[in-house]
Amino acid sequence: MQTTTARQSLWLDGVAPTSFPTCAEVTDTGFDAAVVGGGITGLTAALLLKRAGLRVAVIEADRVGRGVTGNNTAKVTALQSTVYSDLERQHGQEAAAAYAKASTAGVDLLAELAEGIDCGFERRPAHTVAMRPEDVETVEGELAAAVRAGLPAVSDPAPDLPFPVHAAVRLDDQVRIHPLSYAVGLARMVDGDGCRVFERSRVHQVREGEPATIRTEHGDLRAASVIVATHYPILDRGLYFARLEPTRSYCVAATLASGTPPTSMAIAAGGPGWSITSAGDRLIVGGQGHHVAERGDSAARFLALEAFAREHWDVAQVTHRWSAQDPVPFDRLPMIGTYRPGVRGLYVATGFAKWGLSTGTFAGSQLADLVLGRDAVDLFSPHRLSLSGLPTLARLNAKVGVDLVTDHLAPTGTTNLDDLAPGDACVRRDGLGKTGVYRDADGELHAVGLTCTHLGCVVRFNTAEHSWDCPCHGSRFDVDGEVLEGPATKPLEKRAP
Ligand SMILES: Cc1cc2nc3c(=O)[nH]c(=O)nc-3n(C[C@H](O)[C@H](O)[C@H](O)COP(=O)(O)OP(=O)(O)OC[C@H]3O[C@@H](n4cnc5c(N)ncnc54)[C@H](O)[C@@H]3O)c2cc1C
Ligand code: FES
Repeated sequence: MQTTTARQSLWLDGVAPTSFPTCAEVTDTGFDAAVVGGGITGLTAALLLKRAGLRVAVIEADRVGRGVTGNNTAKVTALQSTVYSDLERQHGQEAAAAYAKASTAGVDLLAELAEGIDCGFERRPAHTVAMRPEDVETVEGELAAAVRAGLPAVSDPAPDLPFPVHAAVRLDDQVRIHPLSYAVGLARMVDGDGCRVFERSRVHQVREGEPATIRTEHGDLRAASVIVATHYPILDRGLYFARLEPTRSYCVAATLASGTPPTSMAIAAGGPGWSITSAGDRLIVGGQGHHVAERGDSAARFLALEAFAREHWDVAQVTHRWSAQDPVPFDRLPMIGTYRPGVRGLYVATGFAKWGLSTGTFAGSQLADLVLGRDAVDLFSPHRLSLSGLPTLARLNAKVGVDLVTDHLAPTGTTNLDDLAPGDACVRRDGLGKTGVYRDADGELHAVGLTCTHLGCVVRFNTAEHSWDCPCHGSRFDVDGEVLEGPATKPLEKRAP
């Protein structure tokens, strides 16, 4: 029987927050390179640049590693569900092979960097499995595509799972880590010898120039090169928001009353896309992904994960529940390169489609190469023209257009605040437009304007996380309007309840 369930990831629980200073404490504000965002992508780039002899500053809005890097299922693998058949279909065999090479390079680089970090590094097999007979063809197709892409993938009729599968692809020697400990380890290696890590220093703007000026909430820094590794790019140039689809997924961790959690890092092809792995005595199940614009009951999504875990394992207690989002690019390839076509000095990496521990690590090395004047893989250029992605692009922007228009016009009705229960929120319309009001556990009311500070969509209440989330590009705000997640960099307007 469940007693308590932490509302944070297994990885964040028990790891003390880091305490790097804010930018306000810096005396010398000039650097060779500035990296905005202290997740796996930015920290990898920063460490490689430091090793190349540059003075680097990492500028993190919150605490390093606590973005999506600290809120995932921690599989570091080049076998990523059905990516090779998808890429082959959309971009051809050569592109699938280039993606396999990049993901493998990411796994290898992470393994090398992890040698100096206490992060529970383990080699494990990864699997893509068919849980239903109708998914067999897909899984067999993925095996063939992965092999054509150059991976030593094999068929495995009996992965370490407590239920029979109809088909499975296996890739050996992949990696599981504690992603937050790994990110913190990277940050500690970056900081020192003229390089700095700054936390609680949200970047609001970057003015390009020689040097560029990085405008933070605590003042300006200058750097010859700037990398934007904020997960979803924060700068409104390059139309990234029109080409990325933020998708949210859910995870639970549980202890078992009997049996052991699986050693495999598995994902089911087709259907709800169950993702299964473990850490120590904990079973981890993920899935229930959806575009952030889709409405739905987050609490029900967690219950679906718990039901799946209980159906297949003897669950003693669900100990953690968390959710996070990752942008999926319109044509499924990551975006790594110059922020604007042909303009050096400002770089970006995004669009890892829930596989950024390996591809984000690879992206970090590509960004470092670009800053050092080397070339990067053209296929991943953010400025590519992918005809195969055009239908997705059209669907994506039609959906955002609808969110921009219909939410503004939707009727709101009236709400009596006296009826608002602790943990609930309601929307009022007054002279200022829509106001969201939330009542916390102590009965206190928190009110904010509901217009997203990114591009003006109307935010919605997230019943599981108790946050205001934007359906257009995935910005998230706490109940007092502070930014939890970009691309927004400014808080929601505070209002009187
Ligand atoms: C549920 C789920 C499960 C996943 N499981 C896996 C998995 O098993 N394997 C895998 O490979 N991938 C997985 N992923 C994806 C992976 O976690 C991400 O792709 C990866 O962590 C992205 O790293 P990042 O450094 O780009 O972003 P982040 O880790 O989010 O780092 C970006 C940082 O930028 C900071 N930032 C944002 N805005 C600003 C600003 N204005 N100023 C300063 N700093 C700012 C943020 O605070 C954050 O710390 C999963 C994703 C989800 C959602
Ligand atoms: S309008 Fe872009 S995230 Fe809200």
